[in-house]
Amino acid sequence: MTDSPPISPRIHGIIVAAGKGERAGLDLPKQFVRVAGKPMLRHSAQSFADHPLISQIWVAIGDDQQEKAGQALAGIDDCQLVIGGETRQQSVSNGLSAIAKNGGADYVLVHDAARPFLTATVIDRLIEALEQHPAAIPVLPTIDTTIRIDGGLAKDTIDRNHLWRVQTPQAFHFGKLREAHERAGSSDNASDDAQLIKACGYDVAIVQGDDQLRKFTTRQDFSDAANQNMTEIRTGSGFDVHRLAEGEELWLGGLRIEHDKGLAGHSDADVLLHALTDALLGAIAAGDIGDHFPPSDEKWRGAASDMFVGHAVSLIRQKGGTVHNVDMTLMCEEPKIKPHREAIRKNIAAMLDLDLDRVSLKATTTERLGFTGRGEGIAAQAIVTLGLE
Ligand code: CTP
Ligand code: MG
Repeated sequence: MTDSPPISPRIHGIIVAAGKGERAGLDLPKQFVRVAGKPMLRHSAQSFADHPLISQIWVAIGDDQQEKAGQALAGIDDCQLVIGGETRQQSVSNGLSAIAKNGGADYVLVHDAARPFLTATVIDRLIEALEQHPAAIPVLPTIDTTIRIDGGLAKDTIDRNHLWRVQTPQAFHFGKLREAHERAGSSDNASDDAQLIKACGYDVAIVQGDDQLRKFTTRQDFSDAANQNMTEIRTGSGFDVHRLAEGEELWLGGLRIEHDKGLAGHSDADVLLHALTDALLGAIAAGDIGDHFPPSDEKWRGAASDMFVGHAVSLIRQKGGTVHNVDMTLMCEEPKIKPHREAIRKNIAAMLDLDLDRVSLKATTTERLGFTGRGEGIAAQAIVTLGLE
């Protein structure tokens, strides 16, 4: 018999991240090693934080890992640190005690920091299963032929239809998991929580796991991740307009273009580099050009806009990013862009440290329509793709 589920259950997540990562043998405990652009622990913490039904996250860490954990989790809401224990089981237990001391919960999801790629779909499946069952775990079939080995030799083949691989998060009715941990005491070291709850006689439901949720254990797992192109791809877009006026210089893409009019603006009014800067900033969600170089600031009067591009590129590099390509469009009737196109592409390629075939510049008229059509101004658009390690 299961109690009827609470109408709107209070659901907490525990992430165990207090291990030493001895088998991986890296410079840092593996939960702090960067995978796909972030410390491994941050991935699953973010997945819990982003899930609308999970209200509080508890992260169990080693007592000498506070600084590292603080950095890895910076800015993630509703996330508290707990000191873990000697074993995984004790780390979970300490998380459960912290929840109990802070008013308890209805459901708890217990997850390994060593499984970074946690999707909302798996969390949804687990929470749904808790409406009917005291516990639920994600599993995957064993796909390879599986054998027993003895004395270094292959022995009998095991019927793999009965063998399933168990992942985390594992989800439980909070009170029942507390009971299971209290019963188990601290002498045990179960490798997961489902074992403990089964030992109390509770049923454990299964839901479909996810290959992406695999655990990072060995050094090889980390180099495989790097080789599998786990770079995060980002795109940014930028758009800008400047007015054409008599007596101004015309700067486009960092080059002075001979023309009877120029673009008016606070800086050199290089509309193309401004659109490019906004696209670069956009790809890392770092605001826009006006946030970094306010037009109200006298410092930027007449400034050469390649400096704005340089600043955006340096912010991207600080985040471990690499620009892959840019595609830009200028919209104007005059001047004709084609004669200047190659020189502008080369100049921007140099600014971004890119090969020429990664820098595209196109130009179009607007069929004499609108402000560009009437020759009142020039508009520019840029799209950037970059990779974050
Ligand atoms: N864990 C924990 N407290 C411990 C031991 C392990 O919180 N005393 C956590 C790990 O940080 C990891 C998860 O439990 O997220 C699964 O453990 P495992 O993959 O074995 O990680 P480590 O114990 O860190 O690695 P190793 O066994 O290779 O030392
Ligand atoms: Mg371990």
